[in-house]
Amino acid sequence: MASTYARITGTGSALPERVMTNFDLEKFVETSDEWIHTRTGIRQRHVAAEGETTGDLAFLAAERALAAAGVQASELDLIVLGTTTPDLIFPSTACLVQARLGANGCAAFDVNAACSGFVYALGVADKFIRSGQTKKALVIGAETLTRMIDWKERETCVLFGDGAGAVVLEASDEPGIYATCMHADGGYKELLWNPVGVSAGFRDEPNHGVCIKMAGREVFKVAVKTLDSLVEQTLQAAGMQASQLDWLIPHQANLRIIEATAKRLDMSMDQVIVTVDKHANTSSGSVPLALDYAVRSGKVQRGQNLLLEAFGGGFTWASALLRY
Ligand code: ACO
Repeated sequence: MASTYARITGTGSALPERVMTNFDLEKFVETSDEWIHTRTGIRQRHVAAEGETTGDLAFLAAERALAAAGVQASELDLIVLGTTTPDLIFPSTACLVQARLGANGCAAFDVNAACSGFVYALGVADKFIRSGQTKKALVIGAETLTRMIDWKERETCVLFGDGAGAVVLEASDEPGIYATCMHADGGYKELLWNPVGVSAGFRDEPNHGVCIKMAGREVFKVAVKTLDSLVEQTLQAAGMQASQLDWLIPHQANLRIIEATAKRLDMSMDQVIVTVDKHANTSSGSVPLALDYAVRSGKVQRGQNLLLEAFGGGFTWASALLRY
C-alpha cells in the first residue's frame, strides 16, 4: 500500500497595514537603524491597528491559502493554529477562525510553542494526515506580538512585529512532508518568557505585566547551537543530504542566526528565504509568512525540497523537511 503523505497545496499570508521602520522607533526609544540592522537584519515591522487581532490576520491568511489550494472551508477536517498571542483565553483562536471561515464541525485547536508554533502545528497536522484520520487540514501561524511589548524597552521592542501565514495540507500519495522534528526544554523558561498569566496571576504594572522578557545574548547562543543539531537530525530523519535541499525557510528572528544555520548546511544565502528585514520577528507567523512570500514571488517551485525550522520561547525548536 502506498504511504500517505501530507502535501502543501496552498499558502497564504496577511500583514497589518501599518509599517513601523527603525527610523520611526528612533523617535521614541534610544536606538538607531544602524544598531538594529547590524545586530538583527531588521529594517521594519508591521504593527496591528487598535482592535486588529491575531484571529483577524489568521482569517485573512487562511482565506488566501484556501483560495490558492482551491479548497472550500467546508471540506476541512482539521484546523491547527500556532500562536502565543490568542485573541481570547478561550475559545481558541482556531475555533474563532473556523467559525469565520464556515468550517464548523471539524477539529480545531491552538498550539502554543512560542516562535516554533507554526512548525509544531505543521508537525501535528502531518501526523493526523499520515494516520488517515484527516484528508484536508489548515495550518496557521499567527501573532500580534506587539501587544506584548513595552515600547520603552529597547532590548526587546525593536525585535518584534505582527503577521500571519497559513498552508493547506492535503493527503497525497506523492511527497509531501518527509520528516518533522519537535523538541522542547522548559528548563530554559526564564531566558525568554512572558511571566504572567491567568493561573500564575497578573501584576500591578502597565499592561498587567504582559511583556516579553528576554536574555538576548544567551538566547542567541543556545539558538545557534540547537538549530545546528536540529537540521542534522531532520536530514537524517528524512534520509537526505544537505546538498539535496533547494531552500532553507528559517524562523525570522535574527539574520545572524539564519546565516549560521545556512553555513552549517553549506547553503549559499541565495538558497535562504529572508523576510526578517521587512517583517522582524513575528513568532509563529514568521515561517509561513516567509514560505508564502517564497511561493508567490516564484522563488520556490513545485518539486523542490524545503527545510523549515524554528526556535523560540520554552525553549521550543522544530523543523519540517518537505517536497513542495
Ligand atoms: N538599540 C541600541 N542599543 C541597544 C539596543 C537597542 N535597541 N538594545 C540593546 N542595546 C545595547 C545594550 O544595552 C548593550 O549595551 P552595553 O554594551 O553598553 O551593555 C549593547 O547594545 C549590546 O547588547 P547585546 O545584548 O550584547 O547585543 P547582541 O549583539 O547580543 O544583540 C539581540 C542583541 C539582537 C537581542 C541578539 O542577542 C538576538 O537576536 N538574540 C536572539 C533573539 C532570538 O532569536 N530570540 C528567539 C526567538 S524569539 C521568541 O521565541 C519570542
